[in-house]
Amino acid sequence: MLRAGRLVAFPTETVYGLGANAADAAAVARIFALKGRPADHPVIVHLDNPRYLHRWVREIPPAAERLAARFWPGPLTLILPKAAEVDEVVTGGQDSVGVRVPSHPVAQQLLTAFGGGIAAPSANRYGRLSPTRAEHVREEFGDAAPFVLDGGESPIGLESTIVACLDGTARLLRPGQITRSQLTEVVGELAEAGDAPRAPGDRSVHYAPLTPVELVALDELEARAGEFAARGEKVAVLAMRAPLRARRLMTWINAGRKAESYAHDLYSNLRALDRAGCVRILVQTPPQEERWTAVNDRLLRACGLGGCPHDPEAD
Ligand code: TXA
Ligand code: MG
Repeated sequence: MLRAGRLVAFPTETVYGLGANAADAAAVARIFALKGRPADHPVIVHLDNPRYLHRWVREIPPAAERLAARFWPGPLTLILPKAAEVDEVVTGGQDSVGVRVPSHPVAQQLLTAFGGGIAAPSANRYGRLSPTRAEHVREEFGDAAPFVLDGGESPIGLESTIVACLDGTARLLRPGQITRSQLTEVVGELAEAGDAPRAPGDRSVHYAPLTPVELVALDELEARAGEFAARGEKVAVLAMRAPLRARRLMTWINAGRKAESYAHDLYSNLRALDRAGCVRILVQTPPQEERWTAVNDRLLRACGLGGCPHDPEAD
């Protein structure tokens, strides 16, 4: 199917991707059409092995070399100077290209069997939550759904950490499971994200459930939920503990206190709460600790408050 220019959704360790032959501009254009994504947003090229990097990248800066050696295969995307032959539909017209070597065995097998680069954004409609299960992809696209390779649940559940290595520096563009401290251990201090190259696009579009999301501190959670219930309005809660008392108009998910399992379940929990027919999703504010950075970033975006410089989750 990939060789015929068609789209294939596939599991990775982060989220499901919507893949096309990265060397076939018409096929990559189909990704944008299906997602409803603006043409100037670049897509990541997935490879099964870093030794094929030179086909896509003009130059591998030393910082990128070290990060790739340490974290690939894995949930890290590197933004690097693009090779001349990479089509602008992949790069959104920029002089750089995003590349990632995923570790998921199904992604690895697909890439190896295909034998080339697979361009893939997350397999959701533009502005919506990333899918972490095959059925999420089918829900997203309904009758228009592409072929989906079902690899079960994505083990991490949040999109990859993105680092740009372009001008002799390394910049964190999107937090993920790989933390800033882990990156710093490998390449030293990172440059400030503030002057990072930005993917163009409408920053007011945020990835989100359709139900409005509100962050609430733990000690205000019950009272805030009670205000909705008292008005006869259904309210959803994503908390880190069980409710003190059950309420008829309240749907409560206890996502626990462990950052890894919270992240793993975050998108499917938000999808479930979004379907519950509530006027609001109240989310207990997670701890402001490094291992919660990616979760906090995605939750801020879900509230429409934005996290990182170029609001990648709209993609
Ligand atoms: O975990 C992931 O990264 C998943 C899986 C499928 O690999 N993919 C993913 O792709 O999240 P996407 O397109 O939803 O988000 C990638 C982000 C986009 O915001 C895009 O703008 C940014 O990476 N990006 C890609 N290439 C870039 C480039 N050359 N310069 C700046 N940003 C880039
Ligand atoms: Mg995306």
